[in-house]
Amino acid sequence: MFDPVEVKPGVFWVGAVDWNLREFHGYKTHRGSSYNAYLIIDEKITLIDTVKSNFSGELLQRISKIIDPSMIDIVVSNHVEMDHSGSLPVIMSLAPSALIVASDPHGLNGLRAHYGDAYNYLAVKPGDTLSIGQRTLEFVKTTMVHWPDNMVTYCPEEKILFSNDAFGQHYASSKRFDDEERLSDILDQAKTYYANIVMPYGKNAAKALEACSGLDIDIIATGHGSIWRSHVVEILDCYAKWTSGEQDDYAVVVYDTMWGATDKMAKAVASAFNGAGYRVRLFNLKVDHPSDIMAEVLDAKFIAVGTSTLNNTMLPSVAAFLCYLKGLTTKDKRAFAFGSYGWAPKGPKEASDILAGMGYDIVMEPVTHNWPMTVDEISDLRDEIRNRLV
Ligand code: FEO
Repeated sequence: MFDPVEVKPGVFWVGAVDWNLREFHGYKTHRGSSYNAYLIIDEKITLIDTVKSNFSGELLQRISKIIDPSMIDIVVSNHVEMDHSGSLPVIMSLAPSALIVASDPHGLNGLRAHYGDAYNYLAVKPGDTLSIGQRTLEFVKTTMVHWPDNMVTYCPEEKILFSNDAFGQHYASSKRFDDEERLSDILDQAKTYYANIVMPYGKNAAKALEACSGLDIDIIATGHGSIWRSHVVEILDCYAKWTSGEQDDYAVVVYDTMWGATDKMAKAVASAFNGAGYRVRLFNLKVDHPSDIMAEVLDAKFIAVGTSTLNNTMLPSVAAFLCYLKGLTTKDKRAFAFGSYGWAPKGPKEASDILAGMGYDIVMEPVTHNWPMTVDEISDLRDEIRNRLV
């Protein structure tokens, strides 16, 4: 049932598909994911990464259809995070003499912290190479994309970049390659993945991209989702744009509302952006998940955050959104807060303070209104905000 998939002669995908994954540290993974591991059959049988621990059975079944897992000589651990290293103990129980290769020092330290000191480790530095027979593995450091230990592994003879988290997508599928999917689907998932995982480390990702730019790449064998073989140029171009911090004349309006008054204000704010020449999208946190909104925040110039005031503070959904936003975005956004209130306009003020604390350029004081707006007041609000935006 769990068959390996040949990526190139002698190089196999032996990972696992997690159809039911719907949450990843606050990231809503609507389309599941895969944990991609690769087996290279050479003089030294080499496994590149493993899978989440509860999928070790799938990994072993796939490996076993090619070789006895006890024959594994080398395990390259590009990244300590446990969706990639979680099955290392199972592999090592079957192949206890295998050499584990990880980055120096963070990969090595992270693996020792999680799995102990008893294994045979080799710490590698950027530019180090390792011959596995007919093939060579070169190690490229990709620090903070998105942990300190991250590295990618390049095989020049196959022109394959084993990229781990970089260029990945949380996307479960019965197919393994980009040209077997709708390109728009996997590029959308790659963008959502970048926004929710890599975005805060965009500058590091740009350096990693530069380090990989000199490599002759036929295939990007990702750690999650589709393997890029027909659209390598497209995904590299997307990363070039995303890591550049390039922004569009685009505004994202995110809000929640108690009885609808802040909802009316949100629509007036959206209309003001529209009138000022911005493309705009509205996200009501009652129906939109913060991690979906992040893909929109990525290339937006403006964020407007709306909240009612509840018990002298902002709505919990807005607080949760701002907490998630704070962890992921860089400072180069313009923002303001708005919202309706009954007797104290505390919510928008708090939201504005948080946006300011994140380093955003706050373009206006919190826009507040006591109780619901009349039609004329909404129209006036729209015009006033539009005039401030142009
Ligand atoms: Fe896919 Fe950072 O783990």
